[in-house]
Amino acid sequence: MQPRKNFDLESILWDADNTRVRLATRVAQAMLDAGISQEAEALDFGCGTGLLTLALQPHVRSIAGVDSSAGMLEQLKEKISANRLENVSASFVDFENGRHIEGNYDLVVSSMTAHHIPDTLALLREWHRVLRPGGMLCFADLDSEDGSFHGDNTGVFHLGFDREKLKALCAQAGFCEIRDSTATTVVKEVRGERREFPIFLICAKKA
Ligand SMILES: C[S@@+](CC[C@H](N)C(=O)[O-])C[C@H]1O[C@@H](n2cnc3c(N)ncnc32)[C@H](O)[C@@H]1O
Repeated sequence: MQPRKNFDLESILWDADNTRVRLATRVAQAMLDAGISQEAEALDFGCGTGLLTLALQPHVRSIAGVDSSAGMLEQLKEKISANRLENVSASFVDFENGRHIEGNYDLVVSSMTAHHIPDTLALLREWHRVLRPGGMLCFADLDSEDGSFHGDNTGVFHLGFDREKLKALCAQAGFCEIRDSTATTVVKEVRGERREFPIFLICAKKA
C-alpha cells in the first residue's frame, strides 16, 4: 500500500497557510449557496483542524468533525473548547481500517479529502450509508491536475478528479440529483509559473 501523508505533523502549522484558510472559507460559502438547512445535523469528513467545520457551524444545528489524524483532531478540540462550542464534536474515524463513521446525518460535507482516499466508490458508499433518506452530500476537491498542486504527492491517491466520472461514481453509490459547480480556484506559483487549480463542488441527494 502507498504510504499515507503524515497529517499529525502537518496539523501544527495547518492554519498558518492563508491559501488553505481562504479555500475552506470559499468552499463553505459555495456549500451555503447550494442550500444547506439550518436544521441539519452535519458531518465533516476529513475535517482536519476544522476550517470548514467551523465556517459551517453557525449555519447548521450541529456538526461532527471526523478525521483519521489525532493531531488534526487535537487542533479542532482546542478550538471547540476555547470557543465553548456546544454543537461541534471531533472524533476519530478510519473506515479503511475498520473505524467506520458512527451515527446518521442530514448532511455530509468534505473538502480536499477525497483525493487522499484510495477507493473513491467505497468512500461514496460510506457517506451514503450514514446519510438519512433525503440527506445531502456536498464535497469539494481538485479537478484533474498534473500532480503539481501538492509539492510532495505522498498520500495523494488521485491527481484531482474528472467531474463526469466522479458524478457517475456518485450515481453508482446510490446518490441522485447530482450536480457540480466550481467552488473556487486556487492560484499557486509552480516552478516560477502562475497556475490555476479549479476546485469543484459536487452536491447530491440520498433518495
Ligand atoms: C487535505 S486535508 C483537508 C482538511 C480539511 N478538510 C481542510 O480543508 O482544511 C485532508 C484530511 O483528510 C484526513 N484523512 C485522510 N485520510 C482519511 C481517512 N481515511 N479517514 C478520515 N480522514 C482522513 C487527513 O487526516 C486530513 O485531515
